[in-house]
Amino acid sequence: MPDLSRTFGKQRVAPDDRTRLIRSVFSRVAPRYDLMNDLMSMGVHRYWKRVMRRLAGQQAAVDVLDLAGGTGDIALALAAPGRCVTVCDPSLEMMQTGRARGTSSVIWLAGSGEALPLTDACMDLVTVAFGIRNVTRLEQTLGEIRRVLRPGGRLVCLEFSRPAAWLRPFYNAYSRLVIPRLGAWVSGNPDAYHYLIDSIRVFPDQQQLARLFEQTGFEQVGFRNLSFGIACLHSGTRPAQDAI
Ligand SMILES: C[S@@+](CC[C@H](N)C(=O)[O-])C[C@H]1O[C@@H](n2cnc3c(N)ncnc32)[C@H](O)[C@@H]1O
Repeated sequence: MPDLSRTFGKQRVAPDDRTRLIRSVFSRVAPRYDLMNDLMSMGVHRYWKRVMRRLAGQQAAVDVLDLAGGTGDIALALAAPGRCVTVCDPSLEMMQTGRARGTSSVIWLAGSGEALPLTDACMDLVTVAFGIRNVTRLEQTLGEIRRVLRPGGRLVCLEFSRPAAWLRPFYNAYSRLVIPRLGAWVSGNPDAYHYLIDSIRVFPDQQQLARLFEQTGFEQVGFRNLSFGIACLHSGTRPAQDAI
């Protein structure tokens, strides 16, 4: 597995530069982010997020953190009476786009996965959709998620992953040829969408990410492939006997 903290797409960069470059990607794409998601995935991301909501909804959760929540799709889907949903994301532009959609019941908090601005054991559920790939220090972020979860609390994480072998040639061709052109046409940012494709390519696959969950101390770790592994839904639980 490459050292993710030093890769930005195909470039080798210092970790702080990676963080800065990723911030700039999301500040540029924020106004067109939701539209691009629909076009790029031909609407399928909505199905993936529905499956995520179903799994996350099984956790009786009052306090929910949607890390890397961006424009608030997951937070909105999880908002319910008697529940407090907080989006935490370093991109003010993404969150401003989300707030403009009228997500009034959600709390918006600026912060990064590597150093969550939250006290220990304050959340019953943490969700991360298509965000974990963007953190610069993955193990540290998983440790932070574990820290803010209450013992017995659950992490549900949706991320692009490694598709089945038969699908890979089509998927790779679509990623290389279509997505950057769409990015150029719709958002005027082909580079941002080159980053998207390259970051998926270097990110740990299903098994590797599940192993990292276990190494961070999560229990009941599992994953479920979606659309033949194009995306994958991971989950894990902070051990109930964890000392606070
Ligand atoms: C692809 S978007 C996903 C947004 C939303 N969760 C969704 O599914 O539509 C990735 C998000 O990760 C955020 N992000 C980037 N670096 C991050 C970090 N270090 N910690 C937490 N979030 C980060 C970006 O600002 C962006 O909003």
